[in-house]
Amino acid sequence: MKLIFLTLLVIIGITDSRSEQYEVVEPADTVFALAGEDFILPCSVKPNISVVDMRVEWFRPDLKNSLVHLYEDHDDRNTNQSQSYRERTKLNHQELQRGNASLKLSSVQVSDEGRYKCLIQSKSWSVNATVNVRVEAVAGSPPVITVDGFDHSERLHLQCESEGWNPEPDLEWLDSEGVRLSSETTEMQRNTDGFSVKHTITVQHRDDKIHCRVKLKHHMLETLIVTSSKSFNPWRTSIILSSIAVVLIVIAGILLAAFVRKTREHDELQNENTGKKQERDELQTETSRKQQERDELQEEKNRKQEECDELQKEKDRIQQEYNALLQNVNQKIKQERKQLQTETNRKQQERDQLKEEKNRILQELNKQKDENKRIQQEFFSELNKQKEENRKQRENNARLQNENQKIKRERDELQKEKNRIQQERDKLQEEKDRKEQVLNKQKEKSKQ
Ligand SMILES: *[C@@H]1O[C@H](CO)[C@@H](O)[C@H](O)[C@H]1NC(C)=O
Ligand SMILES: *[C@@H]1O[C@H](CO)[C@@H](O)[C@H](O)[C@H]1NC(C)=O
Ligand SMILES: *[C@@H]1O[C@H](CO)[C@@H](O)[C@H](O)[C@H]1NC(C)=O
Ligand SMILES: *[C@@H]1O[C@H](CO)[C@@H](O)[C@H](O)[C@H]1NC(C)=O
Repeated sequence: MKLIFLTLLVIIGITDSRSEQYEVVEPADTVFALAGEDFILPCSVKPNISVVDMRVEWFRPDLKNSLVHLYEDHDDRNTNQSQSYRERTKLNHQELQRGNASLKLSSVQVSDEGRYKCLIQSKSWSVNATVNVRVEAVAGSPPVITVDGFDHSERLHLQCESEGWNPEPDLEWLDSEGVRLSSETTEMQRNTDGFSVKHTITVQHRDDKIHCRVKLKHHMLETLIVTSSKSFNPWRTSIILSSIAVVLIVIAGILLAAFVRKTREHDELQNENTGKKQERDELQTETSRKQQERDELQEEKNRKQEECDELQKEKDRIQQEYNALLQNVNQKIKQERKQLQTETNRKQQERDQLKEEKNRILQELNKQKDENKRIQQEFFSELNKQKEENRKQRENNARLQNENQKIKRERDELQKEKNRIQQERDKLQEEKDRKEQVLNKQKEKSKQ
């Protein structure tokens, strides 16, 4: 039992380390595919072991129902493949033996642009890589120029359109000398075939050649429109104008334009007589139109005059309001200035009072200082006096002590004298006693 468990652990350990060991080489950057051509989505395992026995799935993570290609149990299993990839994918089974699961995609479409995932699964591990694909549909359709119309100042409104580009192309207008003209309106639209671009421009018809050029990187498609100034007259009924789209073949355009111009000139001669009559009619209508215009202008002038009067009134009203406002404001300012002045005076008074107070306090302070000085001086003189007294006391004491000592010595001497006198008296007493005895003896003797 223990042994089986250990074996299991060892197997798990091995498979884990194997899964960490393998990886899929991922392109560092977006890869570019050309619309209409074949393309290889790169994906290979490193180190290069065979993936023949594994499951290889290509799919687009950003789309629903997005299976691009599936290889499982040694064969392609594409029943659930996304409709748009039907018959367009191929996995090289020989390359699978070398760990190469790159997928060949035929006739690339703009809608193939996006994120792809390559997933390689064995029984024990799985690795995956992301490939970002950008589709460049460089060959869009040749630009088509159409004439939208013209106006009274002999100006042409042109429109140029081209579609099927990817990414967004640049469209520019050029005159016959190759000078760039700026577009009036620009439009860019995206659909399944890529980007379509549409610009409009208004030009003077004397610019007899206008180019519309669509560019993407180093790819360029160009169309030319030729307008002939002779055949172009906006006041006539017919618009005599030739436009021919030419793709990089300018000469063909010019030839065609010349041909069209010739035929138009022929037609014109035939129409000349009718034209003259029409012109006379037009002149008559023109005159009555002018009259009408003059009347309208007069009316306009009167209307303007009224407006002007009203404006003058409005101006006066505003002036009055302004004056009233100004007066009001001036009064307010005056009042405020007065208030400010009183306030300033009050402040000044307060300041003066404060100054006085300060001076008073300063004086007091000085007085206090003097007092302090005096007290200090007194204290010091008192102290000195005390000191002097002390010194005198000490001297007195010393003197008294000396006197005492002297007295003591005298007393001692007196004591000594007294003792001596006592001794002498004793001696004298003894002498006396002795003499008395002698006397007494003599007396006795005498008696006898
Ligand atoms: C296709 O999808 C169905 C339902 O999701 C599934 O049952 C079937 O196994 C899938 N076929 C393949 C080849 O994967
Ligand atoms: C793997 O690549 C090496 C060189 O990088 C090569 O010698 C070897 O044959 C390749 N193995 C397989 C199975 O293709
Ligand atoms: C992988 O295979 C494709 C063909 O399917 C080939 O064009 C490509 O060069 C191969 N890649 C490597 C790294 O061998
Ligand atoms: C791809 O691999 C990463 C780790 O390298 C993992 O997180 C992710 O789930 C994998 N995606 C799929 C679809 O297996």
